[in-house]
Amino acid sequence: MRVLVIHGPNLNLLGERDPQVYGTQTLAQIDEAIANLARELSAEVRTVQLSCEGAIIDALHEARKTSDAVVINPGAYAHYSYAIADAISALRIPVVEAHLSNIAARESFRRTSVVAAACKGSIAGFGADSYLLALRAAVAAAASRGSA
Ligand code: DQA
Repeated sequence: MRVLVIHGPNLNLLGERDPQVYGTQTLAQIDEAIANLARELSAEVRTVQLSCEGAIIDALHEARKTSDAVVINPGAYAHYSYAIADAISALRIPVVEAHLSNIAARESFRRTSVVAAACKGSIAGFGADSYLLALRAAVAAAASRGSA
């Protein structure tokens, strides 16, 4: 079971960026928690942080050949990138959207995710745990697909 976790723009600043909203954990600490859960689930997980929309799209295309599932926190692209939504729609593997904050309870521009409908499902509002919940969901979705 191979899972690609994509962290979008500005998430490299976790720990110092708006800690009251995003928590105090750094991206490296979150990646470590993801790696620990991956071991528990016997999944092979690769994490990447990509700031550019095109690079995220390239990584999603690449995942068609290299991954069984994807977890993506598109950052602010979630709110307006139809290009990322199209790239997700083009994948046959399950993609789970994750947000640290509860985007439904924030500023109005954050309440819409244009990528959500292209995803298998979305998890938001649990801080760093959103990634861990999303990873569990992605592994379960890919496993049930494999056995279907
Ligand atoms: C975010 C929410 C987005 O609105 C914001 O632009 C981010 C982080 C989150 O994880 O809560 O960069 O995706």
